Amino acid sequence: MRQVTTVSGMQRLARRWKAEGQGIGFVPTMGYLHAGHLSLVKKARQCAGDDGKVVVSIYVNPLQFGPQEDWSRYPRDLARDQKLCLEAGVDVLFIPTDEEMYPAAGVPGGAHSTYVIEDTLSRRLEGASRPAHFRGVTTVVAKLFNQVLPDYAVFGAKDYQQAAIVQRMARDLNFPVKIVAAPTLREADGLALSSRNKYLSEEERPQAAILWQAIQQAKKAVQAAPEPLAADALKQQLVQLIQSQPAARVDYVDFFNPATLEPVAQAQHGTHLALAVYVGKTRLIDNAGM
Ligand code: PAF
Repeated sequence: MRQVTTVSGMQRLARRWKAEGQGIGFVPTMGYLHAGHLSLVKKARQCAGDDGKVVVSIYVNPLQFGPQEDWSRYPRDLARDQKLCLEAGVDVLFIPTDEEMYPAAGVPGGAHSTYVIEDTLSRRLEGASRPAHFRGVTTVVAKLFNQVLPDYAVFGAKDYQQAAIVQRMARDLNFPVKIVAAPTLREADGLALSSRNKYLSEEERPQAAILWQAIQQAKKAVQAAPEPLAADALKQQLVQLIQSQPAARVDYVDFFNPATLEPVAQAQHGTHLALAVYVGKTRLIDNAGM
């Protein structure tokens, strides 16, 4: 496995592979890898083929964290990530520094000032709770696409809105990359794998399964009902269920159209549910189709 730390080095390598006709599968991450990431790597390998190349990037992108968010304390363990990527058969681990990624900061002429903004899907759900978050995501993902030149880029379905926004960005800006969404991996009690689970204390960890329990309850209700259900009433039931856990506080619970991300008045088969819940100080998200 090769490790690349410069943008020019990554682009040189990607151009060479392209000239040789090799497909590039890409998994962008912020590191602190877990089995969920490794399933994305597997998917990238399937997409690129045995003769293709798989690139994983690790970059904790400051642009997508709000001023009150956890950028500096976001978990990092590069040695472990390197080992996991090597074992997973990754060809290149791309680890740009902040100076490589945002070189305009600190040079005459001022800081980074060009952003990519998806202006519709970004407004709701995570976008409403975390202003400027998706602007940071689309900006860094666009940069990474220009650096890695992937044919396929794999994103986790746990971040449903992120995958939808990246897909829209790639379509709208004609990035020649196929966006692939890979299923969420879960712990035995249903908690979606996430690097942020590490923040949960011993008392909080079992309570975090409440997100999955709420999803299950909603699915059961929708599937058992002979007719569509009032989304607001179902939402209230889920909020009550979630808040029965002492450490849990709901940020949002939302039923929406999976294609437009617009809210729906009625929950039925095909409706999507997303939720964001603080368990203690840790903000967790999850989603599922009904
Ligand atoms: O999902 C993530 O880990 C990040 O949002 C991403 C896509 C790597 C961009 O920083």
